[in-house]
Amino acid sequence: GLSIMEIAHKYDVDLEGACEGSLACSTCHVIVEPDWYEKLLPAREDEEDMLDLAWGLTKTSRLGCQII
Ligand code: FES
Repeated sequence: GLSIMEIAHKYDVDLEGACEGSLACSTCHVIVEPDWYEKLLPAREDEEDMLDLAWGLTKTSRLGCQII
């Protein structure tokens, strides 16, 4: 399936994704509604590592390219 980032791009939503989903940036940072956050598959360690560098990190932050 498409990631949240890819869907955003498809529908012209203003979400970056400088590395095109290769976990080499954090410009696809999204903040997920808590209800939805719980439903997602948990972030893997490499996502967590990159997420730590994201600006404005919150408890329900994810990288949009990793949400499928
Ligand atoms: Fe770079 Fe998601 S697009 S980490």
